[in-house]
Amino acid sequence: MRPLFISLLLLSGLAQAADMTEAEQASAKELAQANGCLSCHALTEKIVGPAYSSVAEKYKADADAASGLVQSIQYGSKGKWGRIPMPAHPSLSPQDIKTLANWVMTVKK
Ligand code: HEC
Repeated sequence: MRPLFISLLLLSGLAQAADMTEAEQASAKELAQANGCLSCHALTEKIVGPAYSSVAEKYKADADAASGLVQSIQYGSKGKWGRIPMPAHPSLSPQDIKTLANWVMTVKK
């Protein structure tokens, strides 16, 4: 019973990240633009922060990656990618942060 439950949880996490339509991806990108994310990040190249495709690649085996990214976006992050820290984003809504985290996991090189 227990292993089944856990694999269902893992599957639903994966589905969430993979289940963004193109329209949802486009509006998530606009959200990133509107919130200044794209002044430090690009999709496939490192600027100040890592390329989103590199983030997706790094965590692709982790079914729970998006919730880790939610924490990083909300509270800031340091030491995972280099010496420059990412500031916290306290004014973003939890829903927007979740959308951004799921979107980052869909970005491909
Ligand atoms: C001032 C520059 C800056 C801004 C603005 C910024 N980031 Fe970052 N971001 C960084 C840096 C630098 C890192 C690497 C931090 C580290 O090494 O832990 C990072 C890391 C990340 C990561 C990877 C976190 C991890 O756990 O590995 C994600 C996802 C991310 N940013 C998303 C966003 C989103 C979404 C926004 C907009 C709401 C945003 N960033 C705005 C600089 C920025």
